[in-house]
Amino acid sequence: MTTPIYYVNDRPHLGHYYTTMAADILARFYRLSGVSVRFATGTDEHGAKVAQAAHEKGESPQVYVDRMSQVFQEMVERAGAQPDDFIRTTQPSHREAAQALWQELEDRGQIYLSQYEGWYSVRDEAFYEETELLHTPEGRVAPTGASVEWVQEACYFFRLSHWQGPLLQHYKENPEWIGPESRYNEVVSFVRGGLRDLAISRSKLSWGIPVPHGSHVMYVWMDALTNYLTVLGYPDLHSQGMQHFWPSCVHLLGKDIVRFHGVYWPAFLMAAGLPLPHRLFAHGWWMSEGHKMSKSLGNVVNPENLIQTYGVDALRYFLFRHVRFGHDGDFCHDLFIRRTYQELADGLGNLAYRVLSFLQSRTQGKIPALSLSSSLGVREKELLAWGPRVLPLVTDCMDRQDLYSYLDLTHQGIVKGNQTMTQLAPWNLAKGDAQALEAMHGGLHGLTALLRDIALLLWPVMPSSCTQLLHQLGISDAPSFASIGSPLHSNPLPVPTPLFRKPEIIS
Ligand code: MSP
Repeated sequence: MTTPIYYVNDRPHLGHYYTTMAADILARFYRLSGVSVRFATGTDEHGAKVAQAAHEKGESPQVYVDRMSQVFQEMVERAGAQPDDFIRTTQPSHREAAQALWQELEDRGQIYLSQYEGWYSVRDEAFYEETELLHTPEGRVAPTGASVEWVQEACYFFRLSHWQGPLLQHYKENPEWIGPESRYNEVVSFVRGGLRDLAISRSKLSWGIPVPHGSHVMYVWMDALTNYLTVLGYPDLHSQGMQHFWPSCVHLLGKDIVRFHGVYWPAFLMAAGLPLPHRLFAHGWWMSEGHKMSKSLGNVVNPENLIQTYGVDALRYFLFRHVRFGHDGDFCHDLFIRRTYQELADGLGNLAYRVLSFLQSRTQGKIPALSLSSSLGVREKELLAWGPRVLPLVTDCMDRQDLYSYLDLTHQGIVKGNQTMTQLAPWNLAKGDAQALEAMHGGLHGLTALLRDIALLLWPVMPSSCTQLLHQLGISDAPSFASIGSPLHSNPLPVPTPLFRKPEIIS
């Protein structure tokens, strides 16, 4: 499971938190399913954009990237993410991997030296065709709005044009290779339009990985894409990482960098004789309060403040609950607070508190054992069956990176729990005869099992709140989906405390 590696030219923003959190949620989900996962993220530290940022700060590139990479590592931690690798493109193992991939391509006759003459955007770190540019009163700009400059320099080229046929064939045979479908269509139509050979070195830049036996440095995307192999031990094809994890890899990325991942990357891999990753998934773009985030509009969402005020779990929940992953989203602060607290404090927190505080006062804080003498009631059966029924459905969602439907399914479990608690009305049953008490015990056992299953299913999204909930349910084992649907032990439970605080602004 990978995120793009982040440029260190500026401080991390919501977009960086977003992909990091998504990859972490997916990695945690698969781990709980018993799948061995390697989750990699990191920083993209070469190229003209980073060199310029260092220059503006009056620092040497190396000093600058060392400092900024640290800032991104802190971002990953603040996002609640636990990657297995944090790769930096300035580390020696990456230099070795990028040079080895280059050498492989060169040995296979895929690289030649020529002259590049055309447009380059430093902000996008991309070469553009004249026909792609937009004409504005200020002159030509990239389709992204970034400024472009005319570049004339000696470059090494990769024979991208040779790979048009094989790429189209691959897309045709693997219609699920890129999600969502709109991005798949975008890539296919770009490649159908014809491919020109790609400049993959810069001779007028010094901040980069030197090409083997040459005076140029690698084009930053050629260098950066290789990171996905570096973390697995490439160029050693027999390394444990390459053997075990490549090519069963899912790349998460933003929609702006689909061309690099969906066209250039598979072409490099095919040309080097390597298998292609399992799937790419491109998410959308966050706006804020209806507008593109901009410092001058003052609407830049500051994830650090949100995390500090509301906790990282609330932000992780909202970002994937509010907007379908793959679509563009609008961050509205008011909605963030309402939605999260309706579903977390009033929904999940309330359900847990109602059930656990009732157990505390009426059953000496113990989960009532299921009576083995009588058969299970319809209600208990249904509550115990919820987790096993939903697990394959959420797994299917996660296999398609559909985090939205996954959270919708878990939310339905919370609603079901609250409804059942109201219908069960254990406070009335507690005053009744033996049959009423049996119904009360069975219902409460079922509700506690449902809570446990919801806590496990939501653990990948909200690890700390769900760990706290599991503790309140007397479960301290490492979380695993293997226990979904199983009856609970009747251990004494700690006194429950509210899981989520309701902000004062909500009445
Ligand atoms: N360094 C390259 C990636 C190389 S991967 C081999 C890069 N870095 S980046 O720092 O500019 O962007 C990282 C990610 O942040 C991209 O996936 C991009 O889509 C995402 N986002 C940047 N702004 C964003 C929003 N406003 N909203 C959501 N994601 C956005 O590109």
